[in-house]
Amino acid sequence: MNKEIACRMLGQHINSWQSLLDALPHPVFVQDTEYNIVTANRAFIGLYGKNGDVRGMKCYQLLHGKDKPVKNCPTVRVLKTGNTERSEVHEDSNGRVLLMMTSPIIEDNSIIGIVHSFTDITELKKRERALQRTREAFLNMLEDIHESYTELEDLFIKLIKALVNALDAKSPWTRGHSERVASYAEQIAKEMGLDEDEIKNLQLAGLLHDIGKIGTYDSLLDKPEKLTAEEFEIVKKHPDQGAAILQGIKQLADVIPIIRHHHERLDGKGYPDGLKGEEIPLSARILHVADSFDSMTADRPYRPSPGREYAISELKKHSGRQFDPQVVEAFLKIID
Ligand SMILES: [Fe+2]
Repeated sequence: MNKEIACRMLGQHINSWQSLLDALPHPVFVQDTEYNIVTANRAFIGLYGKNGDVRGMKCYQLLHGKDKPVKNCPTVRVLKTGNTERSEVHEDSNGRVLLMMTSPIIEDNSIIGIVHSFTDITELKKRERALQRTREAFLNMLEDIHESYTELEDLFIKLIKALVNALDAKSPWTRGHSERVASYAEQIAKEMGLDEDEIKNLQLAGLLHDIGKIGTYDSLLDKPEKLTAEEFEIVKKHPDQGAAILQGIKQLADVIPIIRHHHERLDGKGYPDGLKGEEIPLSARILHVADSFDSMTADRPYRPSPGREYAISELKKHSGRQFDPQVVEAFLKIID
């Protein structure tokens, strides 16, 4: 449709629309396809019509004080696409924010004009900004909490290491043993694809696995000869004693079973409960391999270290009976 016909058709409707437009509480104005404002309702004139009538003015002149359509002008897009556009109008003078809906007026399948209607969304925007500020403050707070938690966790691990090192250092035979076991166990767990929490628990269990030896006589731990059967029965109590010592610490609830079962054997001949196969928690099976390897590669008061190669051959030899074959396989990969 050519522009003249469109303008004429729009003009024919304006008079009949005027009382309807004036009845609307929201500001509304209508323009032709040449950006001329052809009419506006009372609410709009109250808002923008500083000098009374706005008819005949170009919309970009009135709304933006420009002499041509502004960049991102919704009218340009609506004329092109025929779809309704939503845009925000920010009034700098009084901080008011209006939502402008720009819709085509269509007749005989052609756009003959454009209607703009405004809704005041200042309060909504204020609430949105306040909500955004609250959200940011909340996120900052979460970050602070996370940081404090990480620091606390770090301190917790350091304290445990200090405690365990003090215990290990009592005897030249066990110096550094728990930290090495924790490190082997961690590497096996990573190799086997355990999740982050399981790895953390296993590290703690590695550090604390022999904590129950606090209750075992030093004379037994440092005895230069092989232990008698009765003496060995006393030493065998350390996993159970360790679990009992830590029982009251609820943060270690998932760590305690690993400590309690780190001397169980796959064939059920281990202690303290004689668990078999998968009855033994996987983390405890991992810890058993890590602990056994480190014990075999360290000197003991009653024997010198049989050596790394011997330790590896023992792990292989007893894989499937004493040790979990999958754990042994993962361990051999990491020490390779
Ligand atoms: Fe042990």
